[in-house]
Amino acid sequence: MRPFVPRTIIEPFKVRSVEPIRFTTPDARAAALTEAGYNPFLLHARDVLVDLLTDSGTGAMSSRQWAGMIASDESYAGAESFYRFEAAVKDITGFRHVIPTHQGRAAEHILFASTVQPGHVIPSNTHFDTTRANIEACQGEARDLVIHEGREPRTLHPFKGNIDLEALRATIEEVGPLRIPMVMLTVTNNSGGGQPVSLANVRAASAIAREYGIPFILDACRFAENSWFIRTREAGQEGRAPIEIAREMFSYADGCTMSAKKDGMANIGGFLAMNDDALAARCRNLLILTEGFPTYGGLAGYDLEAIAQGLYEALDPHYLEYRIRSIAYLGEKLAAVGIPIVQPTGGHAVYIDAREALPHIPPLQYPAWSLNNALYLVGGVRGVEIGTVMFGRHPDGTETPAPMDLVRLAFPRRTYTQSHVDYLAEVICHVYEEREALRGHRIVSEAPALRHFTVRMEPL
Ligand code: F0G
Repeated sequence: MRPFVPRTIIEPFKVRSVEPIRFTTPDARAAALTEAGYNPFLLHARDVLVDLLTDSGTGAMSSRQWAGMIASDESYAGAESFYRFEAAVKDITGFRHVIPTHQGRAAEHILFASTVQPGHVIPSNTHFDTTRANIEACQGEARDLVIHEGREPRTLHPFKGNIDLEALRATIEEVGPLRIPMVMLTVTNNSGGGQPVSLANVRAASAIAREYGIPFILDACRFAENSWFIRTREAGQEGRAPIEIAREMFSYADGCTMSAKKDGMANIGGFLAMNDDALAARCRNLLILTEGFPTYGGLAGYDLEAIAQGLYEALDPHYLEYRIRSIAYLGEKLAAVGIPIVQPTGGHAVYIDAREALPHIPPLQYPAWSLNNALYLVGGVRGVEIGTVMFGRHPDGTETPAPMDLVRLAFPRRTYTQSHVDYLAEVICHVYEEREALRGHRIVSEAPALRHFTVRMEPL
């Protein structure tokens, strides 16, 4: 017999606990969306069939994670669960100080509140919305310096999340290192399409930052997915263990912010980690004020257990292979019928280019918002607009089109199966065929920052 080489990459788990999903009629969905001010964030989740709003905190946990949770230590100070969590984070990142927080944005808030002064500039490949907002809340400037390919949905490049190294150097020369409290890099680059950053780019960006004495910080939310792309796309990295790649990536940084709701495989949690003793002391003092004692930081002992285990599960090669393949599978189905998506597909989501798909809706009428709402009305699918609603409004109140208008369909980890994805493709193809019927939207009311969460809209 010839050796069997499977072509199908299967889910590397079996399902032992199921959560029913609820079917609704088109009329019921239309009523629900109207009630929600045409903002999918304001829908009741029970009215959503396939929920791709985010991959954040929405994944399924493993039996090992649940086992750790049952056996957790809930002591206020010095809990065993904290030390297991701290050991896991140190083992993977190598940072000296590990500060738990209730999620990623709390880590961002504590880091920036401890370092950023008015007039400071923080360069990154692309800051995520909460990162940007937390920098702006400290009156700093968040500057996005992704390579130009990262702004062009159709351009193929293996590492579209890379930071433009020349632009980074030019920014440091122009602003001056004293006004740059840190250089950041988001791995993978969520706002730019879940696109990875190469190990070479991490190394080079770190070298530039260090040349000027500027701390280099990773936004590490999807560090495991990024490691998989390095393994499969970067010369010389083939077949290397994802955990080894992750360790090398972290070795170039002075610290990181992390949302454990992504590659921590947990439903809640995050951390801030760093090597600087004095900065860590300042951050811990603020942590006590806003999150909790440094050995729990706003989390229960069982959350710390879930993360300690989840970080390793996220680095499992079989899991990562399945994870990245399931995203590519949807991307291939859409690309095959000519639906414009960000190419190549990224780590946690498929991004549909709504500006290209709906040229009859101008950016300031929010084409990605319209496309996303149509997916809900037609198929009960909820994605999220990553475009002009999310990024178009500036601190001074003016509005300009965002660099791209995308609909992000983010996959919760270990949650949906291949037939869910086949259904998704059917819904998207149907909406695309009927796209000329779609109309833009107008804002009825909005908050001054992070408006997409609560905005109320009206179709035009
Ligand atoms: N950084 C990145 C790159 C993120 O994607 C997120 C969250 C955060 C920071 C903040 O972490 O939610 O735990 O406070 N992204 C989620 C998303 C919300 O849907 O992409 P958090």
